[in-house]
Amino acid sequence: MASHLNSPASTLAGKRILLGVSAGIAAYKSAQITRLIKQAGGDVRVVMTDGAQAFITPLTLQALSGEAVRTSLLDPEAEAGMGHIELARWADALLIAPATADLIARLVHGLADDLLTTLSLACEAPRLIAPAMNQAMWRHPASQRNARKLVEDGWQVIGPAAGEQACGDVGPGRMSEPEEIVQALTDKLAPPLAMTNDERPHAVITAGPTREPLDPVRYLTNKSSGKMGYALATAAVEAGFRVTLISGPVSLATPSGVTRIDVESALDMQREALRLAPHAALFIGCAAVADYRAEHPAEHKIKKTGDSDTLTLTLVKNPDIIAEVAALKAPARPFVVGFAAETRELERYAADKLARKNLDMIVANDVSREGLGFGSDDNAALLVWQTPQGIECQSAPAQSKRMLARAIIDQALSLTNFNAEPFS
Ligand code: C5P
Repeated sequence: MASHLNSPASTLAGKRILLGVSAGIAAYKSAQITRLIKQAGGDVRVVMTDGAQAFITPLTLQALSGEAVRTSLLDPEAEAGMGHIELARWADALLIAPATADLIARLVHGLADDLLTTLSLACEAPRLIAPAMNQAMWRHPASQRNARKLVEDGWQVIGPAAGEQACGDVGPGRMSEPEEIVQALTDKLAPPLAMTNDERPHAVITAGPTREPLDPVRYLTNKSSGKMGYALATAAVEAGFRVTLISGPVSLATPSGVTRIDVESALDMQREALRLAPHAALFIGCAAVADYRAEHPAEHKIKKTGDSDTLTLTLVKNPDIIAEVAALKAPARPFVVGFAAETRELERYAADKLARKNLDMIVANDVSREGLGFGSDDNAALLVWQTPQGIECQSAPAQSKRMLARAIIDQALSLTNFNAEPFS
């Protein structure tokens, strides 16, 4: 667990924070929370419940966050700008402060009857919540049970603090102070290792397709979206790795905390991978590297010739990048994780590839399953690895690539000692 001394300025800079505000006198403190996150360099987008707007106006939070405040699930104009699912995915963290007893109860039951509860269900980023209510309400067994349930569901509950309340009562239920809440957010998002950037184990991840030039304006490529590799980069940062993403051409934003190196061809990707891998602790080959490239890309645009209906291209095999990384000798060799896209006999083909490329672990997905894998947001996989006793495997059911990425990193962490922190 990160120490309380993490600095908001170094941790929250560039982080995207979704701030949920529900009804309660403490709602005015959400203005200060917004300011503190902005001062630390973070981006804040605020979502208010109907009740919250009776305590503080959206205009105040809009002025402080510099972004339009969202208040309704069924707002066609706001949805056209950034849909609510997109907003949930945009967030590096969801923070709800203050959270009423009613909102907490609705979250515990998984209701999605307004924008904030819907976002809370859709958001897979770290989630924190700061309850605020009357002391008798907080002490009620139902509230206590609900708070425990939130923790079981993965929420971090901040406070509440004890003291004098707006209603005149004294006891637990006051929302924690904004500084304390922002510190909890900082600690949650800080790298889990109490190490500097340079001391953290280095993960190098390839992602996306490669582009193999035929001439100055044409190329061979494939449909890889890069989503799985980018999700792995996020998960590796969350686990405490320093991450370098070697990315083919994709239209995805660089995950926060990740160093990205853009490449086009397999040969570019090979050069960067072999430059970085010998110093890395973990190498994940998630890119869909083109198997072949043009032997001699034309210097000038290939012309249509009138007298022939066919064009013959000579292709040569690309280097197998991951196999070259896996062939490095200790201590230069990282722990190597590869991917295999199969349409049948997943385990057998994956185990073959594991052995043939000398990998430590392979993630096999069945690309014949509709709605999963290539281009989609979800994936299912079989994780296969080598033990002295033989091959072992574990199946990961269909889930978002973000969750699957965490499962993959967790499995890698359980097989070797990177000095990083598992998710589970
Ligand atoms: O041989 P195949 O393409 O099925 O292997 C897939 C795995 O190998 C993936 O991890 C992919 O990133 C990696 N690979 C590579 N270089 C290649 C081809 C595949 O690193 N030229």
